[in-house]
Amino acid sequence: MIGVLGANGRLGGLVAQELAARGVPATALVRRPRSGLALAARHADLRDRTSLDAALSGVHRLLLVTPHGPDQDLLELAAIHAAARAGVERIVKISGTPTSLGPNGPTSTAVAHWRSERLVEEAGFDFAFLRPSFFMQNLTERFAARAGLLGVLASPLGRAPIAMVDARDVAACATHALLAEEAGRRPWHLTGPEAVTIRDVARRLALRHVAVPGRVASRALARQGASAFEIEHAERMTRFFAAGSDGTVTDHVTRLTARPARRLTDFLDEHAAAFAPTTALARVLTHPTGG
Ligand SMILES: NC(=O)c1ccc[n+]([C@@H]2O[C@H](COP(=O)([O-])OP(=O)(O)OC[C@H]3O[C@@H](n4cnc5c(N)ncnc54)[C@H](OP(=O)(O)O)[C@@H]3O)[C@@H](O)[C@H]2O)c1
Repeated sequence: MIGVLGANGRLGGLVAQELAARGVPATALVRRPRSGLALAARHADLRDRTSLDAALSGVHRLLLVTPHGPDQDLLELAAIHAAARAGVERIVKISGTPTSLGPNGPTSTAVAHWRSERLVEEAGFDFAFLRPSFFMQNLTERFAARAGLLGVLASPLGRAPIAMVDARDVAACATHALLAEEAGRRPWHLTGPEAVTIRDVARRLALRHVAVPGRVASRALARQGASAFEIEHAERMTRFFAAGSDGTVTDHVTRLTARPARRLTDFLDEHAAAFAPTTALARVLTHPTGG
């Protein structure tokens, strides 16, 4: 039996769909099942040891994906300890991009990923660590609405190349690592097929890029109601990306899934409507010059 943590979320939801489509015995480990969940659900709250012990009964392979947040380390520890108690054999862990991992990682979540990887390895599980670059989906979630309002792509990410990966490819790799005969006991660095800058993104969307200083981006986040944790995390990751720390491209998506990683241009063409102008100002400012 495969257990899928985070099955209400982005990656876990995609993995749950894929496992259901293949008819593999699997269960969604969730606090409350959302409608449309592809798998039968068991109640599992990472803050509730009893629920975790019950939910992991009979689970031999586990997708470990935890929400990004200030206590990510505690949630991961809870899941790993419960997996050990339940006799889980393999953990496929969604981690952070490799250059962020370490005791001095740029954010607390990067340090948490590094600690969890060590714990999984030391505890003797079979494992695969999936270390994705920046998700392409961040572009639609973080930039599209403001681009629609303002008619420009405003970002503090600078000119640094980022090897953005489509989260759908990360989920496909996770499914493969769960189903393969052996997980390989190794990390995989999951990237798209090329490193791109935020200016490349703007050009493809026929938008002008406006470089926003970090402090202005932080004020905008605060106005949108972001927590102090989120603001600090965003500031730290912006510095990390702007330093060019996430620009290395690998072929690991292809090696795991036997097909090419999705290209950013295809992702943007697919999601162009999300960036379309929604105000008169944006319609005036939009520059149809890209492509
Ligand atoms: N975004 C990026 O560019 C990027 C890049 C590299 C790595 N990552 C990593 O990717 C991971 C996030 O993946 P994602 O986008 O799939 O996350 P997501 O969509 O936010 O899903 C996280 C899931 O965790 C569940 N959850 C929250 N608290 C829980 C609890 N106490 N017990 C059980 N489940 C709980 C949530 O379920 P409910 O709230 O519905 O219960 C949610 O479905 C993070 O670890 C992040 O560090 C992200």
